[in-house]
Amino acid sequence: MFRYTYTLALAGLVFAQFIYAGDAVAKENLLVGKRLFNSYCSLCHGEDGQGKGVLTAKLKLEKPPANLTDDKYQSQNVEDLLRLIQGYNRDNSTMPDWEQVIPERNLRNVAAYVLALTQTDMRIRGDARRGREIFRQSCVACHGYKGTGNGVLAKILKVKMINYGSKSITQISDKEIIKTITEGKGEFMPPWKSTLSSEEIKDVASYIRSLFKP
Ligand code: HEC
Ligand code: HEC
Repeated sequence: MFRYTYTLALAGLVFAQFIYAGDAVAKENLLVGKRLFNSYCSLCHGEDGQGKGVLTAKLKLEKPPANLTDDKYQSQNVEDLLRLIQGYNRDNSTMPDWEQVIPERNLRNVAAYVLALTQTDMRIRGDARRGREIFRQSCVACHGYKGTGNGVLAKILKVKMINYGSKSITQISDKEIIKTITEGKGEFMPPWKSTLSSEEIKDVASYIRSLFKP
């Protein structure tokens, strides 16, 4: 709590003296929040936060993921929303234990981004290095940051994937990679055809290819 008050006071000070610097601080937080939200939360809550993530239909949940664009959440401030994300009763819930994965400071950025979901002018567009960007946004939760197959959800879902840095990936044709990304595979590899354009699927596939270093 002390640290938060301190950060706020500091941000306020910076903002008062250097308006552009203050602006950059605020944007940075949302960017971090967006990256984490798209990597970890959008799978269940959807990229728009409405609770229709690509994983939602796969998991037979007792309760669907919350619609985070609902007034119930949007009317909260960052601190209260953070507490909801952290303080969730996890004993019999599919909502993962985020404190183990994302440090509180970053979880606060995620909470800030969730509150920005209903403010369309605050959405941040992707950049040119699309394949890598897409991979980091949509695939790392299972495939891991470096594509080795050790993502946090791989452990939770108990699934195995090919290590994209290993020789095994060279056994799979481009066509097959594109098909798997487009149509999905097995129980937990989601189909991306309604989420990514065919251009974006090609971009992310070539990024996967680039991870193999002979
Ligand atoms: C594996 C699926 C899954 C992922 C990933 C996931 N959630 Fe959830 N979340 C759920 C489900 C299911 C619920 C509703 C559970 C219930 O109400 O029993 C929920 C509920 C919530 C709630 C409402 C809690 C409340 O008390 O009303 C918030 C806020 C939330 N999630 C935020 C997040 C954030 C932020 C992330 C990413 C860091 C995230 N969720 C990732 C499945 C998920
Ligand atoms: C919810 C977890 C999950 C997410 C998210 C996910 N995958 Fe997968 N993926 C899997 C699993 C599990 C397999 C293995 C499926 C099988 O062989 O039965 C797989 C397989 C694949 C394969 C085939 C080669 C292999 O590793 O077996 C490719 C290529 C692939 N995924 C690409 C992607 C891309 C690109 C994204 C993001 C746009 C993505 N995946 C997101 C779980 C996931």
